[in-house]
Amino acid sequence: MEAPDHTRIRRLVVRAFTSRRIEQLRTPVRETADRLLDAFGPHGSADLMTAYAAPLPITVICDLLGIPGEHRRDFRAWTDVLVAPDPTRPGAAKEAVAAMLGFLTQLLADKRKKPADDLLSDLIAVRDEGDRLTEDELMSLAFLILFAGYENTVQLIGNAILGLLTHPDQLAALRANPERFPNAVEEFARHEGPALLAIRRFPVEDVTIGAVTVPAGETVLLSLAAANRDPARFPDPERLDLGRDASGHLALGRGIHYCVGAPLARLETEIAVSALLERLPDLALDTDPAELRWRPSLRARGLLALPVTY
Ligand code: HEM
Repeated sequence: MEAPDHTRIRRLVVRAFTSRRIEQLRTPVRETADRLLDAFGPHGSADLMTAYAAPLPITVICDLLGIPGEHRRDFRAWTDVLVAPDPTRPGAAKEAVAAMLGFLTQLLADKRKKPADDLLSDLIAVRDEGDRLTEDELMSLAFLILFAGYENTVQLIGNAILGLLTHPDQLAALRANPERFPNAVEEFARHEGPALLAIRRFPVEDVTIGAVTVPAGETVLLSLAAANRDPARFPDPERLDLGRDASGHLALGRGIHYCVGAPLARLETEIAVSALLERLPDLALDTDPAELRWRPSLRARGLLALPVTY
């Protein structure tokens, strides 16, 4: 979506995601992380994707949107087929979208009847009070925020934990210097950001970059992953180096479509990793890194499972 519609709609949600509003979630997010970790017991083994990296952001976005407990589920089953399509199941994406839209239709109807102090109720009020949001836009926005609200964050948490477990020197340095967490999150995002591509761009006029001319109106897929590992910008880019200046990475995009949820993504990743390291001091990978299975996707970098012992 482009201006002016994009500007009008983005303005309605950006307020909910300012750094100040999101900082107020620090304690509740930590409580959610602790609740999940309570279930681990003092020692054992687990798949961190299913037991921790996924339920944390899903719980947080459900809290924020106001999705009641009985309607919560592991939404990954719906969005996995969109982000990492299985070529042997060609109809699966359509079915998943239909299921998600059905779920949201019911949810929006329930919320209209019983509004509460949550983001969905706020957006419904905006829709019903004036002409600032059409019914269709309300539905699309609910879909986008739910989906975007956990999809990438789940993967970044998994990728960050894997990065630490495979770089023991970095892990030790971070444990010893927890004040480095905010910078570490930027480096996690640069090194193994989950969104490999930006939102599609369409040049409005012919543009030449290096030796390539892109004609106006062409679809352009920008590789955020390649930019984040550009040796001219980040020396020795394959190395996870929590001490480096990772600012300027493109893991959350750039420009007018810059990730609305960036403050929330940063907060959740910081808390997820710090709570995990605090609570599970002997955390270790329970497989050869070469055996790890990644989602089969050209646009999303994330683990199917992250087996650990603790
Ligand atoms: C680690 C987690 C996340 C990553 C890596 C990520 C990454 C991105 C990227 C790359 C874009 C496209 C930017 C561009 O093309 O310039 C984007 C857009 C967006 N993200 Fe995120 N995101 C994350 C978390 C979230 C969360 C938690 C939310 C909401 C709760 C969210 C909501 C959105 C929305 C609504 C857009 C579209 C913005 C627009 O078109 O104006 N994201 N994100």
